[in-house]
Amino acid sequence: MAKKKTTKKTKTAKAVAPRKSTPVRKKVSFQSPRGMHDLLPEDWRILNKLYSKAAEILEFYGFSRIETPIAEEKELFVRTVGEHTDLVEKEMYSLKSRGREDLVLRPEVTAPVVRSYMEHGMHRLPQPVKLYYFSQVFRYEKPQAGRQRQFWQIGAEILGGESDPVYDTQMILICYKLMEELKLGNVMVGINSIGGTNDRQNYKKKLVDYYKKHSKEICKDCQRRIKTNPLRVLDCKVKGCQPIKENAPIILDNLTSASKAHFKQVLEFLEEAGVPYALRPNLVRGLDYYNRTVFEIFVVREEGDELALLGGGRYDYLAEQLGGRPTPGIGAAIGVERVVNAIKEKNPDFGVPRGRKEVYLVHVGQLAKKRSLSLLEEFRAGGLKVLSNLGKTSLSAQLEAANKAEAPLALILGQKEVFEESIIIRDMKSGAQETVPLEKAVREVKKRL
Ligand code: HAM
Repeated sequence: MAKKKTTKKTKTAKAVAPRKSTPVRKKVSFQSPRGMHDLLPEDWRILNKLYSKAAEILEFYGFSRIETPIAEEKELFVRTVGEHTDLVEKEMYSLKSRGREDLVLRPEVTAPVVRSYMEHGMHRLPQPVKLYYFSQVFRYEKPQAGRQRQFWQIGAEILGGESDPVYDTQMILICYKLMEELKLGNVMVGINSIGGTNDRQNYKKKLVDYYKKHSKEICKDCQRRIKTNPLRVLDCKVKGCQPIKENAPIILDNLTSASKAHFKQVLEFLEEAGVPYALRPNLVRGLDYYNRTVFEIFVVREEGDELALLGGGRYDYLAEQLGGRPTPGIGAAIGVERVVNAIKEKNPDFGVPRGRKEVYLVHVGQLAKKRSLSLLEEFRAGGLKVLSNLGKTSLSAQLEAANKAEAPLALILGQKEVFEESIIIRDMKSGAQETVPLEKAVREVKKRL
């Protein structure tokens, strides 16, 4: 080991030592990448509860968990989400790997889940197969409130079986109930039908003809969209485009009778299930794989604008787009960070453990510290939640930490207690203390909690 350089300092020298003689600390300048965030313990308090609540509802309805890899072949999304969607055109993170694979970080999870269903022959299971996931997705978007480049989705998919409107309704019902139980304030379901492939082809033609007449009045993006992905003009938020959009032909007026009947049933079932909804004729969603029902659940924010907490829809042809057999599908995905923010705003006590039951183990001296290691394991086996800080040595510092943690009891172990196989139970409120044999400690603590 290199010897440390020592400099002789006189008292006066120390007193007048200029500040610059102290080593300048380098500023920590690393931050998480733009649009990507750390999820801190206070976020996980909410996330864990949100996940367990979502899992509880989904498992009640017969869904099982699935997780797919974080990367997939690019072609999977080109074929399903669509070549001319923003997601595929501008927002995918490509991976440079040593091999020749053209991989991307998944920008969504529905196509990967359908890929997995096909790859693992899930069509041989009783249909439909119901799957859910808690997955991270990546989109190279312009970061802003509620829009990140890495975020989590809680999603659910119903695959196979019949393309029955009852599943559309069940999916919306599950999403709505979860949002309702989270007490997020003013949430509402927006719903539309974009029909089947034929309905859409006819409708697109009408829409393009109409927009072409207004090509000078619309924004640049709409001018581009009308050529590449016409339905997306209905999503435009630019002020100048709104009057044009309002008078545009409506897709619902252009559905075949079969698509109309499907949609009518979905709405009737929703009414029967007591799920309030609003028809949104301009709701088209940004992914090409949908047909018939599409929906979103919004929260109305204080500023009056709406933020989509989740979105979903039917995608009866997605498996075929991947070369598979006809496999109807319906699903939805929740934007977890958006929901967590809404929870923080509207329901701040969500996930806070009620009536803390942790006790605090305080050790005094080296022998007690050593014994504490095995003692904590004995407490764990006995079902006690015990906090401790074995690095701290002073009794008062540990009692202060116990106070801060709002522990109702402290268990104090000193050298004497180690020898006598006993422990002191201290009531943190009253300060009353009692020594009990170690073998009875768990029972005695449970009695007092
Ligand atoms: P999506 O609408 O693209 O649908 O995303 C679902 C939800 O993810 C959105 O409603 C929103 O809450 C959240 N979200 C989207 N982009 C961002 C972002 N940049 N930052 C934060 N949150 C975001 C899908 O992904 C479909 N795969 C849903 C689905 C499942 N359809 C059928 N099954």
